[in-house]
Amino acid sequence: MLDRLCATVPDYPQPGVSFKDLTPVFADAGALRAVVDAVIEPFAGTFDLVAGVEARGFLLAGAAAYATGTGMLTVRKAGKLPRTVYAEDYALEYGTATLEVHTTDIPAGARVLILDDVLATGGTVGAAARLVERCGARVAGVGVVLELEGLGGRGALAGRHVHSLQRIPS
Ligand code: PRP
Ligand code: MG
Repeated sequence: MLDRLCATVPDYPQPGVSFKDLTPVFADAGALRAVVDAVIEPFAGTFDLVAGVEARGFLLAGAAAYATGTGMLTVRKAGKLPRTVYAEDYALEYGTATLEVHTTDIPAGARVLILDDVLATGGTVGAAARLVERCGARVAGVGVVLELEGLGGRGALAGRHVHSLQRIPS
């Protein structure tokens, strides 16, 4: 199903990069349901809350939280949240970016499943995991649809339970 629906876009966003576009997967009712179910499946019963990382992680996390009767932690890019935040920087190819969460959105001790669409270097999910822990909560695991092997994401998240639906050599 991923092979059929996931679009590969050559030379996007820059020459030499082969971009994996999941929007056709999200647009297909059956595929969306199958992907959400499969991403959370190994973590059944181990989390109280789902964290979604802006922007593409929101697509999975909202659906997963609804499907499992849990809440959703909103992890946003810098400057978008109106109240007091924790902030964590992470590396981009050029420079750094920042993710933030409200300091009071989740109870201490909550078990949080972090969802995102793609794991590449692990910078994004790693920052989200640090934010969860700064809230006094615990990371139950990390679920992604695609894992771009060779970019070091799984190694960067060593010690965390990482589940990907498909590993792509890169
Ligand atoms: C993409 C993707 C992941 C992240 C993976 O997000 O959705 O969140 O990159 O890369 P990493 O493992 O090297 O951190 P992007 O920052 O492009 O933003 P978006 O989700 O808002 O499109
Ligand atoms: Mg993203």
